[in-house]
Amino acid sequence: MMTMTPLLLLAVALKFVFEAVQCLKCVFLHPLSTIPGPWYASLSDWWLAYHTFRFEQANVVHNLFAKFGPIVRAGPNKILFRDAQAMRDVYIIRRFEKGPVYQSFKLNGMDHAFTILDNESHAARRRASGPHYSAANIAHFQSQMHKETLSLVDKLESIAGQMSVDCLDLLKTYHAQLAVLSIFGYHLGAVEKWSTDTPNEFCQAISDFPKQGIVKRFFPRWVWALLCCIPNKRWKSFTQCSKLLTEFAMARTLELEQQLELGKEFEASPPLVYRLLQYHQPLSHNPLEHDVVITDCLAHLIAGVETTANTLVYFLWQLACSPQIQRKLQLEIDSAMLDRSIIPKLSILQNLPYLNAFINEGCIFRPPRPRCDFRSIGTCCPAGSELHLAWTRPSPPALLSALKRGLCTATPTCFPPPETFDPERWLDNSEPAGVARATHMMPFGIGTRVCSGQALAQAALLIPLVAIVRNFRIRAGESTTDESMRKKHGSVRSVSYDFCDVMLIK
Ligand code: HEM
Repeated sequence: MMTMTPLLLLAVALKFVFEAVQCLKCVFLHPLSTIPGPWYASLSDWWLAYHTFRFEQANVVHNLFAKFGPIVRAGPNKILFRDAQAMRDVYIIRRFEKGPVYQSFKLNGMDHAFTILDNESHAARRRASGPHYSAANIAHFQSQMHKETLSLVDKLESIAGQMSVDCLDLLKTYHAQLAVLSIFGYHLGAVEKWSTDTPNEFCQAISDFPKQGIVKRFFPRWVWALLCCIPNKRWKSFTQCSKLLTEFAMARTLELEQQLELGKEFEASPPLVYRLLQYHQPLSHNPLEHDVVITDCLAHLIAGVETTANTLVYFLWQLACSPQIQRKLQLEIDSAMLDRSIIPKLSILQNLPYLNAFINEGCIFRPPRPRCDFRSIGTCCPAGSELHLAWTRPSPPALLSALKRGLCTATPTCFPPPETFDPERWLDNSEPAGVARATHMMPFGIGTRVCSGQALAQAALLIPLVAIVRNFRIRAGESTTDESMRKKHGSVRSVSYDFCDVMLIK
């Protein structure tokens, strides 16, 4: 009679053969096996997950496109595209739902505009906050933005010429201050208190939250709970970032409610939290629940700060590296902003050709949010349907598709020469290159899930950029190099750098 050991060995061997057959099927017989890509990526989702965990997804995907072309298989059921027409098809025409990866970014277990997967619930949620980011409302908000920006300039003036400054840290603080003002109507006062040796815990928590979402996703709940107990100060603040942010949001909301009871009225531009508290849902006419209001406010805070600060930092770095471009931009801004402490209105800034060309080139050359925006095909079209076959050639209904944006610098016909940072190309709008460039310009996404804060983000890039360029000359600090400014996918939201030292000269 056979003993247990050979039986166990046989079971393990059978399991091994079974897994090997599955792997071979994935590589050679899977319906997606005709799509080019590294064979090891098609074995399991762990390959892409590993690079995501190391915050290297953007670079790895960029290399995949360079090697395999505009459509790449990067997992058993994952396809990545770098094709403007395919992106339009998925995001605008088909409107495929977001993939489940977005669920990792729930706040305190609750959904918000960014994490809701199905289009109908998303549309209902977005209706409440939409008007806050209309062009008209941003125009009302601009005088407050000017005030905050002049505080930033004052802070920079106190340092200018003496030492290089990590503008990344300062700009995150500045953008957190703007976002808190827009969302809660509260003045954080963090820019005024900013110093190199005392990090601001609140701004740190905003940066930490999306990264924590990625890291947390890799552990079962109980393992994460154990990890949270590790007694290290920085680790503790990392794992408790959502608690700190939630307490802040609850305190601001309560404050506002008390002020409203005392008869406070808002004139031109009420904060987002006020709009959400006043909002009544179309069918039920019920107000939004308190938790929903707080969650949405926090989501907008987290969505807006890192993205905008990292983008502006990259702009400053480009100016520091390209004295000619800096001089040209300075000349244009000087002529529009005669007094160095009076920032022109957005309507004027939006019409400065070189300034806008510079911003477009910056967004295309170093897309602020290069991460894959996964969409799920299976949930939208039943397996076997015409649409399903068209998109999945045919494959299981759980197929995920991820589209890369902004990598059109690798499309030399649209952006010749693609490796040169050249704002001038945007000054020529003639066909066909001008039209092709406009088609590829989608740093804020496209379709119904396009960035809701786009108008605010654009203002929050233009205003401080203009104020800094008008008041200072920008030089690269010694510790910042091309390598240190290599793009990383820092979080679900944005490109990320560790620091960016620049020297500002009055
Ligand atoms: C340079 C700055 C910014 C960039 C490049 C950017 C980019 C994006 C992109 C590409 C998306 C779509 C994400 C996806 O489909 O996965 C998005 C979504 C979103 N963004 Fe932004 N964003 C920026 C700033 C802001 C700001 C300032 C706010 C608000 C204060 C904001 C709020 C949001 C929200 C709430 C969503 C989710 C929209 C939805 O699904 O309804 N973003 N952003």
